Amino acid sequence: MKTGLVFSLSLISTLTATARATVSWDQVRAKFGDSASQGRPYSKPCYDSWNSSECVSIRDNYLLAAPRTTNAGARIQTQWETCHTTGEQCLLDFTNPNNRGAVDSSRCALGSVPKYFIDVRNHKQVQEAFHFSRNTGIPIVIDNTGHDYKGRSSGPGTLALWTHNLQDISLDDAFVAEGCPASYQAVTMGAGVQFSKLYAFAEANNVTVVGGSDASVGASGGWLMGGGHGALSNTLGLGVDRVLQFKIVTPDGKYRTANACQNKDLFFALRGGGGGTFGVVLETTIKASPQVTLQAVFLTFSGTIEHTKELWSVMIDNGLKWAEEGWGGYSTFGAFIYITPLLTPCEADESMKPIAQLGERLKAQGATNVSLVQAQFDSWLQWYSVFSKANKAMSGVSLPLASRLINKGSFKTEESREALLEALVAAYHVTPRMILLATAPASFAGDGQTSVTEAWRDSIYHITAVSSWQWNATKVDKLAGYKRVSQSIDNLRKITPDAAYSNECDVYEPNHEETLWGSNYRKLLAVKRKYDPDHLLDCWHCVGWDKNSPRFRCYFSEEELQA
Ligand SMILES: Cc1cc2nc3c(=O)[nH]c(=O)nc-3n(C[C@H](O)[C@H](O)[C@H](O)COP(=O)(O)OP(=O)(O)OC[C@H]3O[C@@H](n4cnc5c(N)ncnc54)[C@H](O)[C@@H]3O)c2cc1C
Ligand SMILES: *[C@@H]1O[C@H](CO)[C@@H](O)[C@H](O)[C@H]1NC(C)=O
Ligand SMILES: *[C@@H]1O[C@H](CO)[C@@H](O)[C@H](O)[C@H]1NC(C)=O
Ligand SMILES: *[C@@H]1O[C@H](CO)[C@@H](O)[C@H](O)[C@H]1NC(C)=O
Ligand SMILES: *[C@@H]1O[C@H](CO)[C@@H](O)[C@H](O)[C@H]1NC(C)=O
Repeated sequence: MKTGLVFSLSLISTLTATARATVSWDQVRAKFGDSASQGRPYSKPCYDSWNSSECVSIRDNYLLAAPRTTNAGARIQTQWETCHTTGEQCLLDFTNPNNRGAVDSSRCALGSVPKYFIDVRNHKQVQEAFHFSRNTGIPIVIDNTGHDYKGRSSGPGTLALWTHNLQDISLDDAFVAEGCPASYQAVTMGAGVQFSKLYAFAEANNVTVVGGSDASVGASGGWLMGGGHGALSNTLGLGVDRVLQFKIVTPDGKYRTANACQNKDLFFALRGGGGGTFGVVLETTIKASPQVTLQAVFLTFSGTIEHTKELWSVMIDNGLKWAEEGWGGYSTFGAFIYITPLLTPCEADESMKPIAQLGERLKAQGATNVSLVQAQFDSWLQWYSVFSKANKAMSGVSLPLASRLINKGSFKTEESREALLEALVAAYHVTPRMILLATAPASFAGDGQTSVTEAWRDSIYHITAVSSWQWNATKVDKLAGYKRVSQSIDNLRKITPDAAYSNECDVYEPNHEETLWGSNYRKLLAVKRKYDPDHLLDCWHCVGWDKNSPRFRCYFSEEELQA
C-alpha cells in the first residue's frame, strides 16, 4: 500500500512537471475561448513590418504611457518586457523610435512578457484560471496597467490575467460595506479603472478622491494594494486608508468580499501587503470626500545643483511645519510644486514666505527662468490638469528606481537636517534625477488596520532616485544601473530607519520584508498561507515569495549583483 501511494504521488508530480513545460496555446484556447490571446511584445509589429500602420502608431507613441496601458504586451518601464538574464527582448530605440537601422528583425523575443493573456471581464474567468493553473502548473500573473517598477506584472512563461477592461465606475452617497454598520459617500470601480478616469469622474460628481501623480496608473491595482500615495495623502490619507471594500477571487477559488466586517484578515492584507499576492481584485470601493479648495505654489528655475540644494535646504528646514499645515507635493531639480487644502490664501502666503524669499535669493545668485506662481484651485482636477501638463513621467524607457522614507526624526535637530541635506546631495551626485515627494500621511493617523510599514506615518518625505540604460544595453550595463540607484539610496539608508515604499523601492532591496512592511510582516505571511496555501500566486519580493521559483529567472541573482 505504502509503496503504491508513494509511486502514484511521484507519478502525479512527474505529470505536473511535464505539463508545466508544455501548456499549449490549444489548451489555453480550449479552456478560455475568445478571451484568451497569445503574448505579443508591444513592438513586435515593427519587427514584422516596419511600415505597417500598426508599427507607425507604435513608433509615434513609443514614449507615451496611455497607449501602453491599453496594450497587454507593453510595460511602462521597458526592461520588464525583456529578460535581463538572457537578453531576450523586442524593443525599439527609445532615443529615436524611428531608427529602423537599430531593429534586427530576426531578434524579437517575448522576454518577460507573459506567454498567454486572459482578458478578464468577470470573476468566473478568474476562478477558472486558478483551477487551470493548479491542474497544469502554469504560473499566473496579474497585469493591470504594467506600471510596476519591480516587474511584478510580468513573468516568462506565465498566464496573465489582464484586468484592464474592468472599467465600471459609480458613486454612492450612502455606501454600506457588506455587513458593516456605517455608511459613506463612496466610489466603486472595476479593477482596471485608471486615475485619468477616476479624477474626471470625481470632478463631474463634485467629490475628492486621493490618487497618484500619473494619470495612467491603475486606481485599484498595485497602487492601492501597495499603499498608494498622492499629493493629498498628508491630509486625506494613503489609498489604503480610504478603501472600504474589495471584491476578490482568492487562489482557493472563492469569490469574496473583504472589508472591516468580513474577511477582516484579508482586508488588512490588501491594505498595504501588495498586489499580485492574495488574490485577484475585481472591484474596489473607496471613500469620496467633499470637494476641496486648494492653495497651490509652483516655483521653477533653471540653475545649478547649488541652487537646488538651497531649495532642498528650505524644504528640510520647513518639513515638519509644512506637513502640519497640510502641504503635500513634489520637488525635483529646479522645481517645487505644493498644495494644501487646509489654509486660506493669506495663510498660504504666510506659510510659503520662505519659498518666495528663496525665489528672490535664487535670482540674485544667478539662477534664471525663476518663476513663482501662487494660486487657488477649486478642485483636485483643476490643479492636477495644470500640474500634469508640465510634469510627465518617463515611459517607454528602461528605468531602475530606488527610494527611502525620510523619518520625522531627520527634521528635528540642526545636525539631523544637515545630515539629510548632505545625504541628498551625495545621492544626487550618483543619480542626478532625485525626486522629493511630500506624499507621506504625516498628519493622517489612520485606523491602525493597514499593513504598509508603520514608518509611513512617521515620515515627511518619500525620496526616489532613478537611473537608466540604453534600449540595447548589455547585461553589464543593466547590472550597473540597478547598483547605481542602490548606491545612491545608500546615502539615505545610512541616516534613516529601515523603511521604503513597496511599490517604488530598490528592486533588490536588502532586508525587504522589514523595510517594506515593518512589524506587519508576520501577520501578512499568515494571511498569505491561509488564502494561498498552494502558492498559486507569487511575485518578486512579495509576501511569502519563493525566491527559487523559475518564474523569477529573468531577475539577476545575488551573485551577479555582488560580482
Ligand atoms: C509613471 C509612474 C508614476 C507613479 N506614480 C505613483 C504615485 O504617484 N503614487 C504611488 O503610490 N505610486 C506611484 N507609482 C507606482 C505605482 O503605484 C506602481 O507602479 C503600481 O504597482 C502600479 O499598479 P498598477 O496596477 O497600475 O500596475 P501593474 O504593473 O499592472 O500591477 C502592479 C502590481 O499589482 C498587481 N495587481 C494589479 N492589479 C491587480 C488586481 N486587480 N488584483 C490583484 N493584484 C493586482 C500586479 O500583479 C502587480 O504585482 C507610479 C509608477 C509609475 C510607473
Ligand atoms: C518605409 O517607408 C519610408 C517612407 O515612406 C521609406 O523611405 C522606407 O524605405 C520604408 N521602409 C521599409 C523597410 O519598407
Ligand atoms: C460641491 O461640493 C461642495 C462641498 O461639499 C458644496 O459646497 C458645493 O455646493 C457643491 N457644488 C455643487 C455644484 O454641487
Ligand atoms: C529658460 O527656459 C527656457 C524654456 O524652458 C529654456 O529654453 C532656456 O534654456 C532656459 N534658460 C536657461 C538659461 O537655462
Ligand atoms: C545601440 O543602439 C545605438 C542606436 O541607438 C547604436 O548607436 C549602438 O551602436 C548600439 N549599441 C550596441 C552595443 O549595439
